[in-house]
Amino acid sequence: MSVPTTIKDRTARAREVLARCDALARFSEDANSLRRTFLSPPMHNCHAAVAGWLKPLGVSAKMDAAGNIRGVYAGADSVSPRVLIGSHLDTVPNAGKYDGILGVVLAIALLEELDGRRLPFAIEVVGFSEEEGVRFGVPFIGSRALTGRLDPELLERRDRNAISVRDAIQQFGLDDRRIGEAALANDVLAYLEFHIEQGPVLERLGRQLGVVEALVGQTRLTLRFLGRANHSGTTPMDARRDALAAAAEWMVAVELHAKQTPDLVATVGSIEAKPGATNVIPGEVRLSLDVRHRSDEVRTRAVRELTELAEATATKRGLCSQWNTLLEQNAVQLDGFLVGQIEWAIRASGCEPHRMTSGAGHDAMILAEEVPSAMIFLRSPGGISHDPAEAVLLEDVEKAMATGVRLLGQLALSQEFLGRKNRA
Ligand code: GLV
Ligand code: MN
Ligand code: MN
Repeated sequence: MSVPTTIKDRTARAREVLARCDALARFSEDANSLRRTFLSPPMHNCHAAVAGWLKPLGVSAKMDAAGNIRGVYAGADSVSPRVLIGSHLDTVPNAGKYDGILGVVLAIALLEELDGRRLPFAIEVVGFSEEEGVRFGVPFIGSRALTGRLDPELLERRDRNAISVRDAIQQFGLDDRRIGEAALANDVLAYLEFHIEQGPVLERLGRQLGVVEALVGQTRLTLRFLGRANHSGTTPMDARRDALAAAAEWMVAVELHAKQTPDLVATVGSIEAKPGATNVIPGEVRLSLDVRHRSDEVRTRAVRELTELAEATATKRGLCSQWNTLLEQNAVQLDGFLVGQIEWAIRASGCEPHRMTSGAGHDAMILAEEVPSAMIFLRSPGGISHDPAEAVLLEDVEKAMATGVRLLGQLALSQEFLGRKNRA
């Protein structure tokens, strides 16, 4: 396929991509920082903007019942199979502007780059509703709906304000009884996702783009230490059952355990002490634990050891501990054919690709269960992510667009790709 877009056009379009990320960052639940969780009110504004950018391309955006925004750019004929390109539109608290969002905005820019040309496959742009797991503690709600594997029990899970997933869907104006209709039909050739790397590897290597071969597995848990609340002034130090002190001891042990296990990462990312007053010994502490490793065996062993350690720490201090698994996601290999095609496309765009494993979770790891999936990483300046300092360079966005256009052209000409028996 020829690539008629001039370098100058592409620079302007890359600038527009960044401006669109800026625009979406204004739709936030918090006044002075970006937080846009699953089906929160600002997600409506975000969807309106995305739909507005798709409309001039002849793509009419629709919502599925899981809150994913989806629009199909037609293929060469009405029976063309489809390629999905997307990422997520939800954010963590105090987020940067690019995690997930860049992938959706780049997908739209790629359609613009096609400039009306039709390929032997349709392209469905997907803005996933939920990938971070912030509101309900469980990530990938949006992508799970596309695989048809959204656990019905999940609909009963409640957020901090006791609103269930089902309520949230209804309050957003959607019909939870129609979630089954979000599942992919049998005509999807591939899922492609552009995403910032969120780490320092590409920058350290001086590479602009990476191709993801695999994503590490992850386990997410909530733990509770249960002790006895009591008066801080009258309770001697040897008569306390302090849940926060137990949690602190355990947290330091978690860090040490991860440091001593090659490539294991373990994070206590949130902690809440009750009742939460200066002059009350905390009687209950609730924490989160996130454990990741490329080997599922190493990860599950670490989780077992860390929960046993929580129990031992609690017992030693006259407390008890409880834990609840929210997510158990195995490591995922992405599609070897697509990885090779992406490497070609990156090279053809004048960059040296780098094959890498993603430590972050992505919608691609869920889609990969159903359809051949692949990811392209853009270098993250300073390796910073999940923070307002998250950034991306204009020249890397340009190269990502060039790679995307090349990749679509390669796939459009590949009998091996087009001849794939749709889904596995
Ligand atoms: C998603 O950002 C994750 O937690 O990996
Ligand atoms: Mn994220
Ligand atoms: Mn992300």
